[in-house]
Amino acid sequence: MADLAVWFEASGAIAGAGGVTYAKHKAPRVYWAAVGLPMTWGRFALSYRNTMDVCGLTVQPSGLRAFMSRRVARHEVRPVAPKIRRVRGTSTGLRVTLRLPAGLEPADLAAASERLRHAWGVHSVHVIAKKPGYVELRMTGHDLLRRVQMPKKTAPRDLVVPVALRDDGTAYVRDYREIPHALALGANQSGKSMYQRNLIKGLAQLPVALVGMDCKRGVEQYRYAPRLSALATNPDDAASLVDVLVAEMEDRFDLLAKHGVSDLWELPEDLRPAPIVVLVDEIAELFLISSKKDEERRERIVTGLIRLAQLSRAVGIYLEICGQRFGSELGKGATMLRAQLTGRVVHRVNDKQTAEMGLNDVAPESVPAACTIPADRPGQAVAADASGGWGRIRTPYTPVDETVAACREFAHLIPDLPALAPFRPAVSAPGPSIPPMPTTAPAFP
Ligand SMILES: Nc1ncnc2c1ncn2[C@@H]1O[C@H](COP(=O)(O)OP(=O)(O)O)[C@@H](O)[C@H]1O
Ligand SMILES: [Mg+2]
Repeated sequence: MADLAVWFEASGAIAGAGGVTYAKHKAPRVYWAAVGLPMTWGRFALSYRNTMDVCGLTVQPSGLRAFMSRRVARHEVRPVAPKIRRVRGTSTGLRVTLRLPAGLEPADLAAASERLRHAWGVHSVHVIAKKPGYVELRMTGHDLLRRVQMPKKTAPRDLVVPVALRDDGTAYVRDYREIPHALALGANQSGKSMYQRNLIKGLAQLPVALVGMDCKRGVEQYRYAPRLSALATNPDDAASLVDVLVAEMEDRFDLLAKHGVSDLWELPEDLRPAPIVVLVDEIAELFLISSKKDEERRERIVTGLIRLAQLSRAVGIYLEICGQRFGSELGKGATMLRAQLTGRVVHRVNDKQTAEMGLNDVAPESVPAACTIPADRPGQAVAADASGGWGRIRTPYTPVDETVAACREFAHLIPDLPALAPFRPAVSAPGPSIPPMPTTAPAFP
């Protein structure tokens, strides 16, 4: 009988351990909630003081404090660590708010984040400076970018579109009013089109005009035609479309001048033209020329895009450019245009030089992170902006049908912009999908 009980206990323990290991790999959120969070919280609470001490995150106490400890409280004088103000568990990690003692700054904690992560056995520790004197440590229990799950409370609003997940568990949003123009770089198959697909899915739900430029005959963007106000699928159309956009920009400036305001958003709502987001799928297609006679067209496109990038923010025209590379080898005007694109997202790249094209002028210390994105992680990227901040992000996998469905559902949101009407793509009615071509040659008897 006793043998039987031992046997039951042992098999129960083995099944439990197996279940925990299984959950750790297959259901990391469940594992975190049930095991990881209580363990990490306990480890953090027990080892906080010592960890801060050994990581050099303490300061010598002030003279008065030292005196009080020695004379009044009668205990030895110890260095002062940041005070814990709040500890909060989340579905993916642990967040701790700390009050910094005089003499420490957020950069000190950020420099020690790798040591802290190992001390507390978590996947990552991010240090966010909240307000003067306070920082938040955002710990994550596992690699959130392995299987991307966007936070629940994220929906496109105003001109803010959540497009990806940051590795600290928060959403990476594209905020057009804060960062009007952006560039997404990456090697072939690194996830640029997926990034744009997520963006279009979000933008489709907002009252904005979407303008596509996809000179690969529209293979990528034509699917979104129901929600596009304009689409150019070859360089000649793109040149005309850029001309129209520049003219639209000038008209909008006239409108602002007439009403004595300097920004589109200062206009009364009933007079305000809809914002326009211009999505370029591959910038090189607009720059490259095959013969001497194409040179003039190229010049027109590049000059127009540079003018838009320099001036159009105030009139609500925004550029979203993708490309495999974006350096001076594209030709005259390339680096000048790039300098105007404040937001940068760099996916996996084949060479360091490409990562530098995207990141060197905004956040040079993020270049190594972009060079080490593994090939089996399409959609993972380094996002940076002119503020110097950067982080790792990954887009969620969004099937093309989902974005196409959003484009059809919100087709009624296409704003009325007569200037773009000639470029509006024809939309075919939804019908049965055409079966794909066979990819292998049929076997002959
Ligand atoms: N975030 C992601 N998660 C999973 N798969 C992705 C992700 N982003 C892209 N992919 C896959 O990677 C491949 C290349 O993506 P794509 O966006 O077409 O790359 P690019 O436009 O840079 O050539 C596609 O098969 C796509 O389904
Ligand atoms: Mg692509």
